[in-house]
Amino acid sequence: MSTTPVVVHTIAEIRGHVASARRTGHVAVVPTMGALHDGHLALVDRALEVAETVVVTIFVNPLQFGANEDLDRYPRTLEADVEKLAAKGVHLVFAPSVDAMYPDGPSQTRVTAGQVGGLYEGKTRPKHFDGMLTVVTKLFNIVTPDIAVFGQKDAQQVFLVRRMVKDLDLPIEIEVVETVRENEGLALSSRNVYLTPEERRAALALSVSLEAASSAADRGVDGVVRAAQAVFAEEPLVTLDYLVVVDPETFLPVDDGYRGPATVLVAARVGSTRLIDNDTIHLY
Ligand code: PAJ
Repeated sequence: MSTTPVVVHTIAEIRGHVASARRTGHVAVVPTMGALHDGHLALVDRALEVAETVVVTIFVNPLQFGANEDLDRYPRTLEADVEKLAAKGVHLVFAPSVDAMYPDGPSQTRVTAGQVGGLYEGKTRPKHFDGMLTVVTKLFNIVTPDIAVFGQKDAQQVFLVRRMVKDLDLPIEIEVVETVRENEGLALSSRNVYLTPEERRAALALSVSLEAASSAADRGVDGVVRAAQAVFAEEPLVTLDYLVVVDPETFLPVDDGYRGPATVLVAARVGSTRLIDNDTIHLY
């Protein structure tokens, strides 16, 4: 189905549209920072399956970027994004300005991510998850969805959003969609546009390392980590940031003797671009 979505930029407008849409059924939100690719669109597909009205939010949230990160160069492609959403039949697009979201400057009140917020991505990107949870809370309060759809690509984000919803009793159901990849395995990311062709090839080390981890699932946690790390030793263009095996229930690292489901998290730098990926394996 192809219908042009209603694109609005202010909180008052989106509230008005959602209020009337709610009379005809459930509302799902897909929060994004734009530069939409097929990973985002898989979330949209899920949202369209589970709700009568789908709202996609497009907002590059300054609160979740560190001082030395890519806030200024992050791709902004609103027109092309709206075209892709129109082709899907999305009903509403909320694309606020920074001023509309933070009229008094960066909000003083923050939602904090706690212990897990300081690990893995949070170690390299301090305050990232507080900024992310704060904007997600604001978007939830503005759109008041019944359902919110997130991608497993950002596994730590999903864990923290789910826990926030539980901890703060938010009346929202969280749907999670599997990571969408290119044919060779590279996880789709808005940041892939920064990669040169050579870096793009080298970036396959992330997904290849996860395959190596999965193949070593009978060798204990240390064996899994060694197998995955070996992939990076072969790829000089990629600098490994972290590779860790966590318990999906707690998101804390597991001991070598652990058996059962485990999420392998990987982050690496390819040139000036930081990429992340993950997979859930079963240690036996
Ligand atoms: P963004 O990076 O634009 O991602 C928006 C959503 O798309 C997230 O839920 C993310 O996990 C999902 N996504 C990205 N790449 C994917 C892929 N290859 N397969 C499946 N899903 C994918 O994540 C954010 O924005 C922001 O932190 C946000 C939640 C919008 C808050 O600002």
